[in-house]
Amino acid sequence: MKILITGANGMLAKAVRNELKDEELVLTDVAELDITNIDAVREFVNKEQPDYIINCAAYTAVDKAEEQVDLARKVNALGPKNLAIVANEEDATLIHISTDYVFGGEKPVEEDYTEMEEKNPDTVYGITKLEGEQAIIDSTFKYYIFRTAWLYGDGNNFVRTMLNLGKEKDELNVVADQHGSPTYAVDLASIIHQAIEKGIPYGIYHTTNLGYTTWYEFTKKIFEIAKIDCKVNPVTSEEFVRPAKRPKNSKLSKEKLLKAGIEVPAYEDALERYLKLELK
Ligand SMILES: NC(=O)c1ccc[n+]([C@@H]2O[C@H](COP(=O)([O-])OP(=O)(O)OC[C@H]3O[C@@H](n4cnc5c(N)ncnc54)[C@H](OP(=O)(O)O)[C@@H]3O)[C@@H](O)[C@H]2O)c1
Repeated sequence: MKILITGANGMLAKAVRNELKDEELVLTDVAELDITNIDAVREFVNKEQPDYIINCAAYTAVDKAEEQVDLARKVNALGPKNLAIVANEEDATLIHISTDYVFGGEKPVEEDYTEMEEKNPDTVYGITKLEGEQAIIDSTFKYYIFRTAWLYGDGNNFVRTMLNLGKEKDELNVVADQHGSPTYAVDLASIIHQAIEKGIPYGIYHTTNLGYTTWYEFTKKIFEIAKIDCKVNPVTSEEFVRPAKRPKNSKLSKEKLLKAGIEVPAYEDALERYLKLELK
């Protein structure tokens, strides 16, 4: 099986490369394949003839996107559109990664979001990622859109930041009114692999680790496992204003994914495995 991975040096891509190491992989970074250039995408895919294209490329700077609207739209909307058009021409399956930000996050936090619920993004990142999803749906049939959230792995991420801050400081303020599922890139890569192997039905799936928490509770868990003595104070989103509004509710229901027979670990288990490597 031949698999093309775009954005191959990103955080998720590193985990995907490792998970699929026994397959024939074609790895491209932006210099080798800029997904916003349809001629380049067409020429490359036509030459390589992959069975799958896994799009790990994205514009992921959520706050900067509020200013760099055109660039965010090019990478997050035009890029996936180009890949979908060409995947359809070459009969390849497109696997694309999307985000909880496509929902506005205003739903009561006692409830979670199913795949087809109304979208109401109010950040440039969320709006452009939703445009990317729609472009794929409009351009091809053989696609998976895997929406994830709160991703961490081999790259700059929340867990690494908290480990560093926790070692430096005696106490930390962490937002306690945003709810979601931290997701280990290694586990998302395994979900992608299982989806390919099992040939689950095409479509949109929510793909985070199981279980819900808040950034505040998650930070306490990180410090507990890492045995870091740092007091964590709960604060509200209003006390922690950022250029792009954070969704209060990022809870993505995994019912559809589990029904498709995919195994998904709990976020606590994922965190233990990640910290074991990170603290070595
Ligand atoms: N990180 C999270 O918390 C999170 C949460 C939910 C969903 N997601 C989604 O998960 C996916 C993977 O995220 P990630 O955190 O692994 O991202 P990442 O580490 O920021 O990697 C994205 C990669 O895309 C590359 N890229 C940017 N523009 C490109 C272009 N025009 N053509 C080809 N490659 C390009 C980047 O290269 P350069 O670095 O050279 O620019 C980078 O290597 C994304 O779709 C993201 O939206 C992430």
